[in-house]
Amino acid sequence: MLIAIDGPAGAGKSTVARAVADALGFTYLDSGAMYRCVALAELRGAEEPLRCAIELANGRATLDGEDVTDAIRTPEVSELASRVAARPEVRAHLVALQRAMIATGDYVAEGRDIGTVVAPDAELKVFLTASAHERARRRAEQTGGDAEQVLREQEGRDARDSGREHSPLQPASDALHVDTTGLSIDEVAQQIVRLAQAVR
Ligand code: DC
Repeated sequence: MLIAIDGPAGAGKSTVARAVADALGFTYLDSGAMYRCVALAELRGAEEPLRCAIELANGRATLDGEDVTDAIRTPEVSELASRVAARPEVRAHLVALQRAMIATGDYVAEGRDIGTVVAPDAELKVFLTASAHERARRRAEQTGGDAEQVLREQEGRDARDSGREHSPLQPASDALHVDTTGLSIDEVAQQIVRLAQAVR
């Protein structure tokens, strides 16, 4: 079974997806971490970033065998990840990797295009949103940054993620929309777990 959770940065996708995966005993796939790995490889000057080995396991990300779990969370990598994610050859490569991963068992996969491109036949699709201010506030809390600056940077990435030609961020026509503004992550996760149990 596959549960697809898409939405913009800061909507609560990763926390919700992790909680749902834990509750159901599914594997969690953070597709954004893969775009971040490609961006980090580019930042480090890799000549062919798509040839670098990306692995996600047990909550850690590795790039050519090196643990880059923390290194892929810097603002520089966030900015470049949004740029590399607009390139069709990067998307094609990572979508193929993601499809191979989710074919191996039960997954909760989160990103921008899981329900629309990676797995349009997912049994359950959720599109998580929250107000731009709430999303920036959550990100700033996580990273220790300034909320106003996070908001400005987030607006640029949101516009690029939603406006790009290839696989823009958009809800699947059959996705369930959940606005997490003012809701606790637990409430949202429990709601999705109940839905998953109903369609299973
Ligand atoms: O979810 P995140 O912030 O870690 O994602 C990093 C970047 O990758 C973000 O700009 C959107 C992009 N992305 C994407 O285009 N498609 C995905 N499935 C996941 C992330």
